[in-house]
Amino acid sequence: MLEVTWLGHASWLIKTDTHTLLLDPFFSDNPAAAIKAADAKCDFILVSHGHFDHVTDAVEIAKRTGAAVISNYDLCDWLAKQGVQNLVRMNLGGWATLPFGRVKMTNAIHSSMLPDGSYGGTACGFVLKFPSKTIYFACDTALFSDMSLIGKLGLDLAVVPIGDLFTMGPEDAIEAIKLLKPKHVLPTHYNTWPPINQDAAAFADLVRTSTDAEPHILKPGEALRLE
Ligand code: NI
Ligand code: MN
Repeated sequence: MLEVTWLGHASWLIKTDTHTLLLDPFFSDNPAAAIKAADAKCDFILVSHGHFDHVTDAVEIAKRTGAAVISNYDLCDWLAKQGVQNLVRMNLGGWATLPFGRVKMTNAIHSSMLPDGSYGGTACGFVLKFPSKTIYFACDTALFSDMSLIGKLGLDLAVVPIGDLFTMGPEDAIEAIKLLKPKHVLPTHYNTWPPINQDAAAFADLVRTSTDAEPHILKPGEALRLE
């Protein structure tokens, strides 16, 4: 069993039979947040890059829960300075073997400065290889043709940004899905603020008519279950 819950903006909760993972926790000052940072429970936190809408609550949740934070080496250095002790330091192209499965840190075309101006390393995406399912979070990125290589891993689910302006928009997300060839698709990084508002139903129609993937449109707080 794998359950993927949208917590609003680019924050996701991934539940397996044994572990809970939280991706890019941003709840404080997030008008679309489905939970409060104080209510977050998890064993691992994945942080894709240093922007406020991805790291805002990572330090507090990591310290309170003791969850290990998986991020790039440089961003982990910054987290260590904030007092986060449990860190999984990675960099692009690497796999980490962890108690729930394997994590690959993939390319993303984006920037990564931290809110205080510190160097945040290189923005990334993540492939999560669980015993029964493989899922890919593109995280904040432009379209890139090497997504076809990520697709070779055999994706049950791809989570792709559609908000435009700061990341891919819907049209490039369709091209990304053609390269990734996932079974299921979830859109992310949209409808948080007016500049990234998108018509998710129209996007889902495009996915159905122009790719072989099955789209799922969630509201913040809703989950997709992959059996
Ligand atoms: Ni960003
Ligand atoms: Mn972002």
